[in-house]
Amino acid sequence: MKEMLNKAMEGKYAIPHLNINNLEWAKYILEECQNQNSPVILGVSEGASKYMGGYKVIANMVKGLIEDLNITIPVALHLDHGSSFEVCKKAIDAGFTSVMIDASKYELDENIKITNEVVLYANNKNVSVEAEIGHIGGNEDGVSNEILHAKCEDCVKIVNATNLCCLAPALGSVHGIYKGEPNLNFERMKEISEKTKLPLVLHGGTGIPDDKIKKAISCGIAKININTELQIAWHNSVKDFVKSNEGSYDPRKVIGSGENAIKEVVRNKIALLGSNNKA
Ligand code: 13P
Repeated sequence: MKEMLNKAMEGKYAIPHLNINNLEWAKYILEECQNQNSPVILGVSEGASKYMGGYKVIANMVKGLIEDLNITIPVALHLDHGSSFEVCKKAIDAGFTSVMIDASKYELDENIKITNEVVLYANNKNVSVEAEIGHIGGNEDGVSNEILHAKCEDCVKIVNATNLCCLAPALGSVHGIYKGEPNLNFERMKEISEKTKLPLVLHGGTGIPDDKIKKAISCGIAKININTELQIAWHNSVKDFVKSNEGSYDPRKVIGSGENAIKEVVRNKIALLGSNNKA
């Protein structure tokens, strides 16, 4: 991930971080990224990992897909919002190539301490680490939590104290669906980017208008996380299929009826982020 993001930051484009939920999503995303010749970060949340059976299942599944589908683009397998050292260690030991340690619910010093523990373990195994500063809000599971904007001096402090690959400063984006227009603090984003010189990560990529995505990239964002938009596109497509094919029970047809919708989102995001032909 480190190599991908450093190149993206230099070239003023961003790498798509696309969350996966099952075998099909991983397959569709890898195929479309290969078609577009774009590097990709496959994001796996703790919840998605539990759903799929665990980190080893996922690491082996992705490795198998890369081999069997002849995927040649750079692929990072990334733990999204790891909540503790132990969870990050599990993902690293299973073969994930990068992890996010999200200790943003703690005070800054504790966040730095936990992040550093993960970095020391990860770097030893050539695994890159993302950390979070401030708190990225969300409307997950119908519960909305607060956004706590990142302070520039806190970002500089964690970057100087740890060997991070990238940093996710909370600057107004949220996970899930936005209520109203997202209000991103671009000035602070640019300042953090200039002072830390590290690739920055934009969480909550669903629902941010294209011009704001482009502006964020010009302010130092090199990784953009997208999950909900893929879920909605898949769901709409499967819903239509089920409505017009009530007698269809083959899971390959039902689940697979969302393939084109997922691939279309992936294709459009790659074009927007400018990561096509950067593999
Ligand atoms: P969305 O829910 O906006 O797609 O954000 C995904 C994300 O940030 C995962 O870390």
